Amino acid sequence: MTADQKKHAAAEAALTYVKPGMKLGLGTGSTAAHFIDLVGARVRAGLDVACVPTSETTRHQAERAGIPLTTLDQHPFLDLAVDGADEFDDKFNLIKGGGGALLAEKIVASSSRYMIVIADDSKKVDTLGRFPLPVEVVPFGVKATAWKIERALKICGLTGKLVLRTKAGQPFRTDGGHAIVDVSIGRIADPARLSDLLSVIPGVVDHGLFIGICGIVLMGTDAGVKTFRKS
Ligand code: A5P
Repeated sequence: MTADQKKHAAAEAALTYVKPGMKLGLGTGSTAAHFIDLVGARVRAGLDVACVPTSETTRHQAERAGIPLTTLDQHPFLDLAVDGADEFDDKFNLIKGGGGALLAEKIVASSSRYMIVIADDSKKVDTLGRFPLPVEVVPFGVKATAWKIERALKICGLTGKLVLRTKAGQPFRTDGGHAIVDVSIGRIADPARLSDLLSVIPGVVDHGLFIGICGIVLMGTDAGVKTFRKS
């Protein structure tokens, strides 16, 4: 199976958790895109759901698919959020934000009764950190913020290479108008501690460590979809 087929299979498995009347969070990325297509097909066949998109890209895809959209202002508590991940470990910690939508993704997932991650099996790691950790920062004072990020790494006994994300030669901007610093660390032994330290840095809007948010991972493999459920 290709990675894309595994992503599709995981997205199909997530669909079984969707019930009529639910308010859903729709993630961002190539795996979430499969789920949005599948939800769209169900909606066109009569399923009644209302969804909160986590990015402009997802909003456009959902609109094209005919999915009714709502907002967190109208529905601050969602039933379920389904999203991809760049990495997950066996404690259900995640790295997200490869697509730059981590802020809305975290707000939506943490406002949902359940967050289901859908992924192909390349995303499973023993220890987070192989994927560069995206840190969303205010463009003002980026260098000063970067210095504080390095200090947080040091306190955790880590070192990392910080790269300001660009797109087509220009500084990348999130939907919220912020910049992203991608931090290559390698191994994050204590992601919860790093998360806490990053979260209190002035200028850091949020970061891609999702700790204690995800409860179920559906992972596409050659042998079918494996379900990991937090006990
Ligand atoms: C978007 O900002 C990300 O958090 C994505 O959910 C993550 O990068 C996974 O993307 P893919 O499903 O494309 O691998």
